[in-house]
Amino acid sequence: MSSSSPTETVSATIAVFAGDGVGPEVVAEARKVLDAVASRFGCAFNYRELLIGGIAIDTYGIPLRDEDIETARAVDACLLGAVGGPKWDDPDAKVRPEQGLLRIRKSLGLYANLRPVAVLDALLDATSLKPEVLKGTDLIVVRELTGGLYFGRPSHQWRERRGRAAVDTLVYHELEIERIARLAFELARTRRGKLTSVDKANVLSSSRLWRAVVSEVSADYPEIDLEHMLIDAMTMKLIQQPSVYDVIVTENMFGDILTDEASVLGGSIGVLPSASLGAAATSGKRAGLYEPIHGSAPDIAGLGKANPVGMILSAAMMLRMSLGLDDEASAVERAVFDTIASGLTTPDLRGGTATTSSFGDMVASRVAGI
Ligand code: IPM
Ligand code: MG
Repeated sequence: MSSSSPTETVSATIAVFAGDGVGPEVVAEARKVLDAVASRFGCAFNYRELLIGGIAIDTYGIPLRDEDIETARAVDACLLGAVGGPKWDDPDAKVRPEQGLLRIRKSLGLYANLRPVAVLDALLDATSLKPEVLKGTDLIVVRELTGGLYFGRPSHQWRERRGRAAVDTLVYHELEIERIARLAFELARTRRGKLTSVDKANVLSSSRLWRAVVSEVSADYPEIDLEHMLIDAMTMKLIQQPSVYDVIVTENMFGDILTDEASVLGGSIGVLPSASLGAAATSGKRAGLYEPIHGSAPDIAGLGKANPVGMILSAAMMLRMSLGLDDEASAVERAVFDTIASGLTTPDLRGGTATTSSFGDMVASRVAGI
């Protein structure tokens, strides 16, 4: 990114992995909104369109090419739609779309996945939970993204005389736990000062290490109120009393499951954004990949029904966290919230009648100030 002094135009290069299913549809809306940001605030975004997931398997035979990882490494930030779909779901297939996503996370060292969940007043009645339970919910899950069961080896299936067997490996190293814990404590410092660390320390060795390391790191953050919770109890408390949580930190698989559950709080999985961040290099540059948490939703792909909010809010996170464009990010968030508050929603929220692109048009015109 070039200088952001007020007299100079900010210009950033963004890698765009639209991916599969509803991915391209929601990415198109985020780009529409970024175009509006560019014209209102006088910045320039250059896009590099790259393939990932099923579309990359169909085109190149693999879910992500080495040269595209290099491009992603070189740009200022990456946007990603979604990967996967029934076409590539054969359990015996050697190549799967999801491998592309895991590979880019691992290759760019994106160890911290931030998934904020804020319940908008306008959506308090949009879920099956009671409004009084939801009110005031504003939490962020920090999910460890490059360790645990997703990457541990061995991981394979075999046949033995008694039948088939399979193994996955849950391994965590102290340093992996320490860096994600520090990031979560730092984040809690900028928010309400409360951190909940989630594990399964009553059963798993990896969780006992997790708990010990998080407790050790807490010595550097005496002002943060740290609590440890077991994952099973957490899944219950999260929907019983969501508003008491601030920052929640957990390992990869628990974070995957917990954030799908958390999405119910926001009214629809379609509204949740995420940022996946790497460590800051000595140059200050930090890899960032921004994607909604909803996945490819093949059942509604191509129908104009996908909710672009998660993708658009992911683009806002990118503006703030990778490009340092705070005012621009806030303008996008305000435009999304005002559009929802005006009653316009896609069908996943209260059976709304907006299409993916009519919702995106409304957000873009609010950002542009029209
Ligand atoms: C997510 C998704 C991915 C994950 C899949 C698509 C590999 O569910 O980002 O939450 O499990 O991490
Ligand atoms: Mg998931």
